[in-house]
Amino acid sequence: MYSVYDKLQVLEPEGYSLDRRERLAAMNGPVLSWYETHARILPWRENPQPYSVWISEIMLQQTRVEAVKPYFSRFMDALPDVKALAEADEELLLKLWEGLGYYNRVRNLQRAARIIMEEYHGQIPAEYEELRKLPGIGSYTAGAIASIAYGKPEPAVDGNVLRVLSRVLASREDIRKQAVKRRFEQELRQTMETGNAGAFNQSLIEIGAIVCVPNGRPRCGQCPLSSICLTRRQELWDSVPFRGEKKPRRVEEKTILLIESGTRIAIRKRPERGLLASMYEFPSLDGRKTEDEVRALFRKEGKQEPPVCPAGDAVHIFSHVEWHMTGYRIEVKSIPEEYLAAEREEIRGRYPIPNAFSAYIKRIFGES
Ligand code: ADE
Repeated sequence: MYSVYDKLQVLEPEGYSLDRRERLAAMNGPVLSWYETHARILPWRENPQPYSVWISEIMLQQTRVEAVKPYFSRFMDALPDVKALAEADEELLLKLWEGLGYYNRVRNLQRAARIIMEEYHGQIPAEYEELRKLPGIGSYTAGAIASIAYGKPEPAVDGNVLRVLSRVLASREDIRKQAVKRRFEQELRQTMETGNAGAFNQSLIEIGAIVCVPNGRPRCGQCPLSSICLTRRQELWDSVPFRGEKKPRRVEEKTILLIESGTRIAIRKRPERGLLASMYEFPSLDGRKTEDEVRALFRKEGKQEPPVCPAGDAVHIFSHVEWHMTGYRIEVKSIPEEYLAAEREEIRGRYPIPNAFSAYIKRIFGES
């Protein structure tokens, strides 16, 4: 009698084809065995507590594992628990996040920490539905915390997992669609073994990251799912997973002003809401201005014009917007009062300035 839970190799007997649900159920054994020997040793896996799982998973949504490691240890050292996070100074919080991008995520972490302190006696909830109510916790993060930290049989479906599942099933459904993700979540909830949910979810994430890779040919020779993978059998790597059209990003042209006076430089705080809320930035103007237009702005009657020189172009890509920037350095006698006159060293050490400006920070420090 063939069993869909056979370890490592699941063979489909000739003349019998697993249906969708059986194929998903058949993943449990191979995936869990593979994880026992292949899981990477990562700081957040050493002692997976709800708080460390939560912080690491939010960071991992933004960038690669290797890039997250130093951020994770700095964050855990500075804010080791929910209470410390709830009480943290906004500036420290943004500084700890600087370079990771999507700053609303760290703000949401703090908002959620405050709710956990007030409404859950400082204990991160274990139930998926309770977790989902917290700001910044979507289905993926709720599933990751519930399963990795509390062992609850909840799925954690991110982009990596969507790719693995689509490939195992050779599914042509559009993985950008919420409904497609919801269906996979529902199916995994019904087919995943109870008792090993954290390992199961992390294993799928890991297989997606290092075996069933997004670009180029997946490494099927190393994949514990190769014997049941329909994409491999049908050689459909190039067309699975399927992603529908994405809305084009809006392009915003900007002129960045590096207004300097001796060792000081003008910065300002961004508005409290919206893109890069409450971060610091260099003053800017909408549109691309010429050197003469910038010079005219600083012309004052009876005064000598300050020297203006180009500081080059830069592009920064956010998820929905692209900034196309041109910059100028302007040497003034004193920083205009409407700005904060930061010491150059404070640009790196004190004020959280988003990555979008990194090309200009390099220029100020003579690094490019
Ligand atoms: N990417 C997202 N979550 C992860 C995890 N827990 N381990 C490794 N990579 C991940």
